[in-house]
Amino acid sequence: MPIPTSPAGTAAPARSSAAPRVAVVTGGSRGIGRRTVGRLAADGYAVVVGYAGNRAEAEAAVKEAVAGGGGAIAVRADVADEHAVVALFDAAEAEFGGVDAVVHTAGRMHLGPIAELDLAVLDDLHRTNIRGTFAVVQQAARRVRPGGAIVTFSTSVLGLAFPGYGAYAASKGAVEALTLILARELRGRDVTANTVAPGPTATDMFLDGKNEETVARLAAQPPLERLGSTADIAEVVAFLASPAGHWINGQVIRANGGIV
Ligand SMILES: NC(=O)c1ccc[n+]([C@@H]2O[C@H](COP(=O)([O-])OP(=O)(O)OC[C@H]3O[C@@H](n4cnc5c(N)ncnc54)[C@H](OP(=O)(O)O)[C@@H]3O)[C@@H](O)[C@H]2O)c1
Repeated sequence: MPIPTSPAGTAAPARSSAAPRVAVVTGGSRGIGRRTVGRLAADGYAVVVGYAGNRAEAEAAVKEAVAGGGGAIAVRADVADEHAVVALFDAAEAEFGGVDAVVHTAGRMHLGPIAELDLAVLDDLHRTNIRGTFAVVQQAARRVRPGGAIVTFSTSVLGLAFPGYGAYAASKGAVEALTLILARELRGRDVTANTVAPGPTATDMFLDGKNEETVARLAAQPPLERLGSTADIAEVVAFLASPAGHWINGQVIRANGGIV
C-alpha cells in the first residue's frame, strides 16, 4: 500500500538521527510560548522563535535558548499572513534542515459581553486565532517530519463558559475542531496533532486588565489553588512533542490544575 503523501504531494523527508530535533514556536517572544522555547531548547531542540512585533523579547528568547546550549533564531511572522508563515517555515528548514515540532501558541484575547461586542473586534480576534491557526497548521501539515508533533492552543474557558469570553472561546472552539480533524488527516505520516487548553495562567494575556481581586478569585478556583505557570504548560508541550508523548494524538489536554 503506498504511503499517503502530504497535500504538497510528498511526505516530509525523515530526519537524520544525528541532527537535533527542530521546533517552530509561534508566540515564542512572551508568555507560554517563551517558556516553551526555553524548555524545548533544554531538551536539545533547535528552536525558531516566531513573534508578531516584540523583537526585543524574541531576541531575548533566542539568547536564553542559545545559552541553554541549543540553536535558535527569531523570525517575525504575523500568523494570519500566510506568506509570512511560509517564510517562517522556510527559515526553519534553511537554518536547521527541517521541522519536527510546531507549537502554535500565538493568540489574542478580547473580553466583552456578546450583546455589546464590536464585530470589528470579533473579526480582528478571529483573524489571529482562527485564520492564524489555519495558516500555521497548514504549513505544519505539509512539512513536519515523521515522528513529529503539532501542538495548538485552546483554553479551558470552553468548558468553564465564563461570561465575557464569547468571542475568544468561539475562536478557540474552532482551534479544537481543526486540530482534531488535522490529526485524522495526518494518517500514515507518523505526526501527531493535539491541543493544549490551559486554565488561568500567569502571563500578560491573563493578567492585563484584571484587578487583584479578580486574579485572586480565579487563582483560588482550581483544587490546586493557584494560577498555572508558564512552566506548567511548557512541561505538557515538551511531553507531547517528545517521543514519550507520541501515543497521545487527536486530544485536547485541559492543563488547568483541575478547575471546573
Ligand atoms: N494565559 C492564559 O491564562 C491562557 C489560558 C488559556 C489559553 N491561553 C492560550 O495560550 C496561548 C499563549 O497565551 P499567552 O498567555 O502566553 O499569551 P501572551 O503572553 O499574550 O503572548 C502572546 C504571544 O503571541 C504572539 N502573537 C500575538 N498575535 C500574534 C500574531 N498575529 N502573529 C504572531 N504572533 C502573535 C505575541 O507576540 P509579540 O510578543 O510579538 O506581541 C506573543 O509572543 C494563546 O493561544 C492563549 O489563547 C492562555
